[in-house]
Amino acid sequence: MSNVFYMNHPLLKHKITMLRDERTGTNQFRKLVEEISMLMGYEALSDLKTRNTEIRTPIEDTVQPILDGRKPAVVPILRAGLGMVDGILALVPNAKVGHIGMYRDEITHEPHPYYCKLPQFIEERLIVVVDPMLATGGSLIDAVNEIKAKGGKQIKCMCIIASPEGVKAFSEKHPDVQLYIGALDRCLNENAYICPGLGDAGDRIFGTK
Ligand code: PRP
Ligand code: URA
Repeated sequence: MSNVFYMNHPLLKHKITMLRDERTGTNQFRKLVEEISMLMGYEALSDLKTRNTEIRTPIEDTVQPILDGRKPAVVPILRAGLGMVDGILALVPNAKVGHIGMYRDEITHEPHPYYCKLPQFIEERLIVVVDPMLATGGSLIDAVNEIKAKGGKQIKCMCIIASPEGVKAFSEKHPDVQLYIGALDRCLNENAYICPGLGDAGDRIFGTK
């Protein structure tokens, strides 16, 4: 599992604990998801390519690095992944945004795709797939399948909380894809919810329960 990276920053741990707390309301939950995504994105994007450009400061001419290549694409898995987009856009404001619609059947826990719209030239972009929860792994595995089928090559995924089962399933199916995890939890329960987890991420972000 050499392509799986576990975040270890105390600020991130603190914010994830607040996110888990059942007393955290919708407004604060959304803000925390955004802040956590920015902290995770900062780490996940640490290998972005740069090229040198000539500029002039108020003091002198100089050659300095700027980001190189096509703009990256952020791809949230709907719905809950939407909450992570602004955190990444705070770092890379001109990134493109794709969307993958996927919901999990409540009984079988199988993912069902219902929407996929990706930016043009996807094969030339770094793609950052975001979803707060990696439970069985089914949704993220299928989302990456769809992105690869449309030509995506350089893919990173970011999940705030993951189960060991989900990490194993994902890294077996997509060993070439880097996976960034904010917290690795204990296990899944009989409803395939992550324990201790944070409950239903989509409902907590959008206040739908
Ligand atoms: C949640 C979550 C992931 C998925 C994880 O979405 O945001 O997409 O479950 O579960 P898995 O790893 O077992 O596939 P959900 O299907 O509840 O949809 P929602 O975001 O619309 O609430
Ligand atoms: N989806 C969620 O939102 N939470 C879980 O714990 C598992 C899947």
